[in-house]
Amino acid sequence: MSVPPTYRDRVRDEWGRLRLWDYLRYDEQGDLWINQLRVIDAVRAYGTPLEIADSTIVERRTREWRSLAEGIAREVGYEGRLNCLYAAKANMASESTHAAYRCGWHAETSAGQDLRHLEWLDEQGLLPADFRVVCNGFKLPIERLEPAPAATPSVTDPELLPPETHRHRRRNAHYVDAILRLARQGWRITPVLDAGELASFAGAGRPEMEVGLRLKFGKVHSLWELEGHVSRFGQSLDDLRRTAEQVAASPNLTFTMLHAMTGAAETIAVESLVDSLLLAGRVWADLRQEHPSLRELNMGGGIPPLGEPYDHAAFLRRLLTGLKAIAEAEDVPQPELTFEFGSFVVAESGFHVFKGDPAQGQPPRCGPFRAGRSLGHHRRRPDGGHPGHAAHRPPLPLSGGDRCQRAGRTGDTGRRHLRLRRPLSPRRFPCRQRGLAAPGRGW
Ligand SMILES: Cc1ncc(COP(=O)(O)O)c(C=O)c1O
Repeated sequence: MSVPPTYRDRVRDEWGRLRLWDYLRYDEQGDLWINQLRVIDAVRAYGTPLEIADSTIVERRTREWRSLAEGIAREVGYEGRLNCLYAAKANMASESTHAAYRCGWHAETSAGQDLRHLEWLDEQGLLPADFRVVCNGFKLPIERLEPAPAATPSVTDPELLPPETHRHRRRNAHYVDAILRLARQGWRITPVLDAGELASFAGAGRPEMEVGLRLKFGKVHSLWELEGHVSRFGQSLDDLRRTAEQVAASPNLTFTMLHAMTGAAETIAVESLVDSLLLAGRVWADLRQEHPSLRELNMGGGIPPLGEPYDHAAFLRRLLTGLKAIAEAEDVPQPELTFEFGSFVVAESGFHVFKGDPAQGQPPRCGPFRAGRSLGHHRRRPDGGHPGHAAHRPPLPLSGGDRCQRAGRTGDTGRRHLRLRRPLSPRRFPCRQRGLAAPGRGW
């Protein structure tokens, strides 16, 4: 008679190829540990539901990425700097952002709120010297915030329906003002300009700043595809060229970065992602011939965490080799390559512990494990991105020795479980929060 598998067996079978076990383990008693923490002890101390953030996982993965990227850059002879920005939209809680910043990531922001958080961290003395901030997200000039078209007749009290402009003004004005203010205060801050945003920053009397330009980009592999590509973000290539000319003619701005992001928070096959980024590399090289101030190619996010089954080494090798070949063919320097990673940095470091009632179909479940969506992973991000890779993980029992039965009740109903998950979408939580590049290599 065959012995039913334990949860531990099941998790190992189903998820063993993931590198969860770099930081998780079951002890001889069958209790689950996250690094030095026996999870049941935290539950006894604080109860459930419980959120656990282990910033040492951020530190560990950062060291591993740095060593991998630097090693491959050396191997292929890539001469451009490698810059690292943490996209705080992945998790803006200060325990995560500060962990990222202290181990060398600089900041990517998507709204004024991110800048408030950075200022707060700075006031607490928690930002490293020479910290850099790159600002995505909308920053239209106020005069461009048109009133909404006449609303269709509504029975709702108009007081409850303030014009769109108010909302936009509050959000945009603060972001633009904060960028200008921090630039005046001497922060290394680089706005990445979307369509129509130049007027917010260019002009005599405005601070001198380096700016990036965001290309309307995505999973495209040819200029032809790029031309027809539809996205809410970025400027068409023709518009971007025009904006680059205007930046060059402005008294205070310097065009230093092309932002071309294939995808975020989704797993894109290595070959497809690299082919698309090499198209961005060709656009970069072409622009560089016109604009010698251009230094940096920002690829955005889209790289799964190191714990995921993804060939990170192959990605880096193909991309760096390809970018180097393009630069040589076009007779331009190799671009600084900027990684603007969110989920990569923090997805593995957040855990939820909660009680499940198997009798009601809640975890624990037996084979096959179901990747859970119960914690709101499908929330939208403020900039329209979707949380994606690393979002779904099996529930793990805090005690790994339970027998797993296929039918009927499973485990004991009062049992506590830990779900590995992508950290909560930041904007749901007020006021906690905060990414970077290295000398020689931009860390
Ligand atoms: C502009 C930008 N950069 C970076 C990221 C981070 O992407 P990921 O979580 O895949 O690393 C996002 C995510 O939405 C984004 O919108």
